[in-house]
Amino acid sequence: MKKVIIIGATSGIGRALAQQYAAHNWLVGITGRRRALLDELQQVLPDNILSECFDVRGDENIDCIKNLIQQLGGLDLLIYNSGYGEASESLNWEIDKNTTLNNVNGFAEIVNFAFNYFVLEGRGHIAATSSIAASRGSSFAPAYSASKAYMTNYMEGLYIKAFKLKLPIYITDIQPGFVKTKMAKGNKQFWVAPVEKAAQQIYTGIQQKKRKLYITKRWRLVAWLIGCMPLTIYKKLG
Ligand SMILES: NC(=O)c1ccc[n+]([C@@H]2O[C@H](COP(=O)([O-])OP(=O)(O)OC[C@H]3O[C@@H](n4cnc5c(N)ncnc54)[C@H](OP(=O)(O)O)[C@@H]3O)[C@@H](O)[C@H]2O)c1
Repeated sequence: MKKVIIIGATSGIGRALAQQYAAHNWLVGITGRRRALLDELQQVLPDNILSECFDVRGDENIDCIKNLIQQLGGLDLLIYNSGYGEASESLNWEIDKNTTLNNVNGFAEIVNFAFNYFVLEGRGHIAATSSIAASRGSSFAPAYSASKAYMTNYMEGLYIKAFKLKLPIYITDIQPGFVKTKMAKGNKQFWVAPVEKAAQQIYTGIQQKKRKLYITKRWRLVAWLIGCMPLTIYKKLG
């Protein structure tokens, strides 16, 4: 049985991904802060799901991941999907701090550990859910778009590191547009994907060892348009 850990799998994309992997008979380690939701999924899929309950902003990340790897009996794939984001139009420090602790500190600590673990194993795969928001700065949620850009940039660094080490360690940057979860905010949403469709595309893309995944696929066009838009135009939108 292949083994995956999904960080942030109590709801939304992570939960749907856990169900996808279980349906394909993977052994799945799920995490999140909401114990009851972890237990609920474990009860529905007792042969496929194990869990650890922890807050990625705390000091227990590595101990909990090590426990989970031990319970699973190894690891083939780690998906960092935990994320926090709120509009911070008045530049609220609590929002920005939470965003940074979750999407930057938690991400870097866990992905750093996973990469070094896979180097020792001589193989592995890391995926993380960044966002289309990583493409440019945002006046609505500056810390969110910046934190997602950090993730994207870090993962590119790991991709190059694996290439230089000549090791089969695959890196997948998952960039969703809008997916119908409580995280999707704003009243100008379009091309909103159902969470099951998003999870299915993510599963397939990871199986194909894709470097970057746009969810859904048509969001590649938006990423490209935003990316090459001159600042004089983008500043009216971003
Ligand atoms: N939905 C979209 O339109 C969209 C678009 C672009 C990118 N994304 C990204 O997709 C990822 C998944 O989001 P989602 O839409 O599925 O939202 P969600 O339903 O709110 O899921 C977020 C997950 O992250 C976990 N999490 C959040 N803060 C945590 C913390 N401090 N410690 C541990 N776990 C934590 C949550 O678990 P607990 O609350 O139980 O801790 C939950 O399982 C996020 O990284 C998000 O930025 C989403």
